[in-house]
Amino acid sequence: MSAITSARIAPIFDGRGQPTVEVEIVAAGGARGRVGAPSGASTGRTEVRALPEGGVAAAIREFRSRVAPALVGVDLADRAGIDARLHEVDGTPEFSRIGGNTATATSVASALALAAEGGRPLWEVLRRPGVDGKAFPAIVGNCLNGGRHAIGGPEFQEFHAISDAPRPDDAIRAALRVHALVGEELRRRFPKLALGRGDEGGWVAPLGNVDALEVLRDACDRARDELKIPVRPGLDLAASEFYRDGRYRYRDQTLDEDGQIGFVTGLVERYGVVYLEDPLDEGAYGGFARLTGALGARIQVVGDDLYTSHRARLQRGIDEKATNAILIKVNQVGTLTDTFATVDLARRHGLATVTSHRSGDLPEGWLAHVAVGTGAWGLKCGLLGGERVAKLNELLRLGRAALGDDG
Ligand code: PGA
Ligand code: ZN
Repeated sequence: MSAITSARIAPIFDGRGQPTVEVEIVAAGGARGRVGAPSGASTGRTEVRALPEGGVAAAIREFRSRVAPALVGVDLADRAGIDARLHEVDGTPEFSRIGGNTATATSVASALALAAEGGRPLWEVLRRPGVDGKAFPAIVGNCLNGGRHAIGGPEFQEFHAISDAPRPDDAIRAALRVHALVGEELRRRFPKLALGRGDEGGWVAPLGNVDALEVLRDACDRARDELKIPVRPGLDLAASEFYRDGRYRYRDQTLDEDGQIGFVTGLVERYGVVYLEDPLDEGAYGGFARLTGALGARIQVVGDDLYTSHRARLQRGIDEKATNAILIKVNQVGTLTDTFATVDLARRHGLATVTSHRSGDLPEGWLAHVAVGTGAWGLKCGLLGGERVAKLNELLRLGRAALGDDG
């Protein structure tokens, strides 16, 4: 394997038009990888910092003066070494000096360069023990937006079509059909309204949480009947966003933890929800454990803001039986090494992992390789818009290659 000869950084924009960075890693033989870092909006309190104080300009200064010189000469195949250098030059627990987005772009760009050098697909370079690349993730496809991603919509942040059809083409087709049927129903209900889409490409409409879930459930039922492909409702409440002073605060009700658990459990049962992300505040391990005790045998209870992809937080979740699944976002921890420490722990304990985009993402496809290479139960990357379709199309390509349909 060859050594890194150059590491470059540049300012770019994410899908929300916010400034972020891209990093290019070049190796001695000429192989290169270039990756842009996405950003979130409903970020968990315990995520690493996306950018240092001073934003993109400061991230670029730090990279050129400290990160790039530390990377030159490191073996491209030494992921642990590359990621350790990032931590060393940063020197803080939350990447506040170089920024988690710089770390993410550097770590993934190095893996892409390694894949290019060996003429291998990225997922193989990222492969975790026991993964054969022939199992494909369920699609967690955003159909309706609320919360921070859609002003004027429901408080719940995301309403998903979940399809665990084994073939990616089937799963994507079913989720897209649900998205289209939700749009049709919204046009029928609001004929005079200019309908729009939110940050993750889901519809935005002036619906309450329960009405939105009903529209989603009906669309799933119709799509399933039409296509004969499994597809059912899922939710990401991102509940920390409407939790204040010990209460879950909706427009029309205020609930304590018991009330919230009762409300959410009722919705899951009434509407056949099979995927439930962040139904409680990001500190509520005990409440999560009660929900998972009641629902975990039947559905995925997923921690996103709860864990922020951090191994130690997941360990606590395992000890307390808080969830049966975890959302994985590389830039919540900053490097692939840190991400895989969490993924491996989850896999050892039988927790499902869901590889996730951010709400401000980029038209790049590498996330599909992370999902396949880590044996993820699900891929959450939205359905419509260039930055989301890029990932779905990459998953389709991986599916075709593995299933021998490559033409
Ligand atoms: P974010 O949210 O990317 O805006 O942080 C997505 C999510 O909560 O899953
Ligand atoms: Zn989430």
